[in-house]
Amino acid sequence: MDISLLDETGIAELNASLLNASPREILATLIPNLGRSALSFSGAEDVVTIEHSIKAITNRDQLPEIFTLDTGRLPPATQRYLEVVRAHYGIKLDLLSPDPDELREFVRSKGLFSFYEDGHTECCGIRKVAPLRRHLANFDAWITGQRRDQSPTRSEVAIIEIDRTFSTTEHRLIKVNPLANTTSEEVWNTIRLFDIPYNELHDHGYVSIGCEPCTKAIGPNQHEREGRWWWEESTHKECGLHITTPLKVR
Ligand code: ADX
Ligand code: SF4
Repeated sequence: MDISLLDETGIAELNASLLNASPREILATLIPNLGRSALSFSGAEDVVTIEHSIKAITNRDQLPEIFTLDTGRLPPATQRYLEVVRAHYGIKLDLLSPDPDELREFVRSKGLFSFYEDGHTECCGIRKVAPLRRHLANFDAWITGQRRDQSPTRSEVAIIEIDRTFSTTEHRLIKVNPLANTTSEEVWNTIRLFDIPYNELHDHGYVSIGCEPCTKAIGPNQHEREGRWWWEESTHKECGLHITTPLKVR
């Protein structure tokens, strides 16, 4: 199967055929057929996408290129954890930085905490979305750790879809969400079962982890997204990486 040759209907059929597959089965089926693929790792419990990918492939040459968007605002614990993961799996981990000129001008004019005043879109745009867009232009497919249970805005995430945010007329990007149908509980069962190292912030009440100024610990009865951009409405809690569009390809 060459996924680059599939049209929208073909992608939709492939997605339907994977609805009951495990993340590892999904990745074993897809990775060899994606072309050049990149896997985004946020430095949190999405480490299981790396675990499943390594187990899904038959040799290391097939491993997607793994990267983290190093926004410059990641918590020190996450920075330490990135290096733990790099060593644990013996992987190359690419850290992508924002464009220095764009960032400098933004901070010069609006400071380091403008998102508390006028929302996170601008800062996330510079620190995350623009570097991601530049990076993904080099790949045919993007593998993420998104799950449906993470947020109301993710309740319809597909296993495989055509990415509507980063595809261009010249370049079609396939997005793969192998954990789409996996629950938080299942992710944590995998982490415990395989003794996978995890971000120490998870032991201090942090569930969903992003940049330090925009992430906080939550209480037992709070939804994980309440620890992210807590000053904004739940329907605005996407930073532009994952915009859900009406899907023909579910
Ligand atoms: S976010 O859009 O709200 O920040 P979230 O933290 O839920 O995303 O993570 C969902 C998926 O988005 C991760 O599994 C990962 O694939 C990708 N992602 C989020 N933040 C980063 C990051 N800093 N670097 C790389 N990938 C990221
Ligand atoms: Fe900026 Fe916060 Fe977005 Fe990080 S999560 S890029 S600090 S607005």
